Amino acid sequence: MDALEVLKQRRAVRSFEDKPIPKNILEDIIDCGRLAPSANNVQPWHFVVVTDKETLKYISEKATYGKFIKDAAACVVVYCEKENIHHLEDGAAATENIILAAKAYGISSCWVAGYDRTYEKDINEYLNVPSNLRMISIIALGYSTQNPSPRNKKSLSDVLHWEKF
Ligand SMILES: Cc1cc2nc3c(=O)[nH]c(=O)nc-3n(C[C@H](O)[C@H](O)[C@H](O)COP(=O)(O)O)c2cc1C
Repeated sequence: MDALEVLKQRRAVRSFEDKPIPKNILEDIIDCGRLAPSANNVQPWHFVVVTDKETLKYISEKATYGKFIKDAAACVVVYCEKENIHHLEDGAAATENIILAAKAYGISSCWVAGYDRTYEKDINEYLNVPSNLRMISIIALGYSTQNPSPRNKKSLSDVLHWEKF
């Protein structure tokens, strides 16, 4: 799919088919996350890819608005080294790269909040994540059974300001 079509057609999807994502595709999706921009090119990220059903269930029970993660084919938990002051922006850039790469492979996703959430500690312990990392996001991935309704988005004229606000 053309890059602009990927951007324009992406939607948050929260219902998935019971169908695994091939490992080489998951790896390439993460590779696209790895290539995201980062402040001073520090690349502070680590990506934990979860496909194990028990672990998906555990994460889904912890994530307040991520109950659908248990039915995802996989989820990616994005982490960044917290000593880097731009860890949140860097991790967000990597998250979006992963979401868009997945879409290009025909894989749907939903960004689930991971930063500064009460469930960060429990999930980090479960996944053996070192204490110098902050959770940035959890991305549910899978083939979709959903046909999301048209987007409720602000119009371009509401948000576009030429030259000055
Ligand atoms: C930082 C961030 C946190 C989000 N957290 C959640 C979440 O916890 N659960 C969820 O179902 N969706 C979550 N979303 C997805 C948004 O609800 C979704 O992107 C928004 O409704 C717009 O829909 P669209 O992605 O289809 O354009 C999150 C998105 C972002 C960017």
